[in-house]
Amino acid sequence: MSDRLYIFDTTLRDGEQSPGCSMNLEEKLRVANALAALGVDIIEAGFPIASPGDFEAVHRIASEIKGPTIAGLARAHPKDIKRAAEAVKPAENARIHTFIATSPIHMQAKLRMRPEEVLDMAVASVKQARSLVAEVEFSAEDAGRSDMDFLCRIVEATIAAGARVINIPDTVGYMTPQEFGGRIRQLRERVPNADQAIFSVHCHNDLGLSVANSLAAVENGARQVECTINGLGERAGNASLEEIVMILKTRADRYAIETGIDTTKIVPASKLVSQITGMPVQANKAIVGANAFAHEAGIHQDGVLKHQKTYEIMTPESVGWTTNRMVLGKHSGRAALKSRYAELDVELDGDRLNVVFEQFKVLADKKKDIFDEDLMAILDHGADVATERVKLISLHAASGTGDTPVAAVELEIEGKLHKATAEGDGPVDAAFKAIKSLVEPNGKLLLYAVNAITAGTDAQGDVTVRLQDGERIVNGQGKDTDIVVASAKALIAALNKLPGMHARTVHAQYSGV
Ligand code: KIV
Ligand code: ZN
Repeated sequence: MSDRLYIFDTTLRDGEQSPGCSMNLEEKLRVANALAALGVDIIEAGFPIASPGDFEAVHRIASEIKGPTIAGLARAHPKDIKRAAEAVKPAENARIHTFIATSPIHMQAKLRMRPEEVLDMAVASVKQARSLVAEVEFSAEDAGRSDMDFLCRIVEATIAAGARVINIPDTVGYMTPQEFGGRIRQLRERVPNADQAIFSVHCHNDLGLSVANSLAAVENGARQVECTINGLGERAGNASLEEIVMILKTRADRYAIETGIDTTKIVPASKLVSQITGMPVQANKAIVGANAFAHEAGIHQDGVLKHQKTYEIMTPESVGWTTNRMVLGKHSGRAALKSRYAELDVELDGDRLNVVFEQFKVLADKKKDIFDEDLMAILDHGADVATERVKLISLHAASGTGDTPVAAVELEIEGKLHKATAEGDGPVDAAFKAIKSLVEPNGKLLLYAVNAITAGTDAQGDVTVRLQDGERIVNGQGKDTDIVVASAKALIAALNKLPGMHARTVHAQYSGV
């Protein structure tokens, strides 16, 4: 048994499937780059048959990301497998991950297939996939609730058909650690050709046991774990990458199993995924929550000052938390900016550097101390500029005790200037009404969340807006030292992602409350 655990990240597939977490192509590429820098072994880049956008994202990631294996998901259907093979083809190392459900309830109620038909389809799919790529993973969906004898048979048959990785998902998060660990042990003992495959697990968090179940599987011989940044994923999410990796590192005395993860890249990756998806990380979340290393009680503070290990089992630096270090100010030049970004693992050149430098100068005029977090926030904004159909030209909002809040906005929509004013319950509400009066479709507001990027009253506000238009859910982020402006930018960023969004042809000056 190898003492190396392969980290299979599915943030871009299972994570992206969670409500409101869909990402556009540019966002997926940024996350894929962060995952490669983190050192994950396999990136599951998407589900190519799902849509042309999914196919394009997997194909671009396979073309551009070097290092990790790039996997594409495929149901056990010839068309899915062919499409997945085309999508992952450009990768240095390509993998097809094909799956079919094996539990009685899924086979009867969902697939309406007999177990023998499921088994034949699984074998045929693995064979087809192996004829197209060298590396094939087979998943027995809902393995946690599958009959053990049937699971052994399908695992044996798919290994014989050429699957190099066998994934045992607890699709509905139903298992307990002892029982799930026992399943992995039994499979490894009972399946005659088990030694020809790597056993993998994919645990959902419906009962909050995904990490515990994954570790129980590792204790019983699993050597690939499927997980996501911040535990993102369907429903209650998947096992969290950062927790699994840091448990193995912090408790190496117990596990003695290594991963290839550069743990100092965990927090930046977590922040990036949270910013892009608009899914906040709860403050007391292990490893990546804002309070994960904050000591409030006097007795704890006293202990940590005397000896860090009194209350800290790992250091904040080891997972990538940096103190808010002031790095640049308004007199800093382009070269200093480029070099600081390089230290943050972001290479900027040409037009992209120019756009980001302009944003930096604007911020430095408003804010004396520019921290790393501010630089990352500027980067996000700069990245959006090129693709904006709607741009914020100006915003003036007024409010105060006893006054009706009012906002006036000027937007450039596909090259033309449009203006509107509106009243609202507060200045943000007024600004949103004014902006929404100028475009259609303008979506239903599902989420409005504000965070401060750094400490201090001059901190930039980081606003996330989630909009729904029919089936489509999109997120937008906006940052500014003025919270109303940050909110307007977030709304506009989300509107820019709505397909077909355009200026309202006729609009009366909007003044409804
Ligand atoms: O949860 C699950 O079973 C899955 C499979 C596709 C691996 O996501
Ligand atoms: Zn899943």
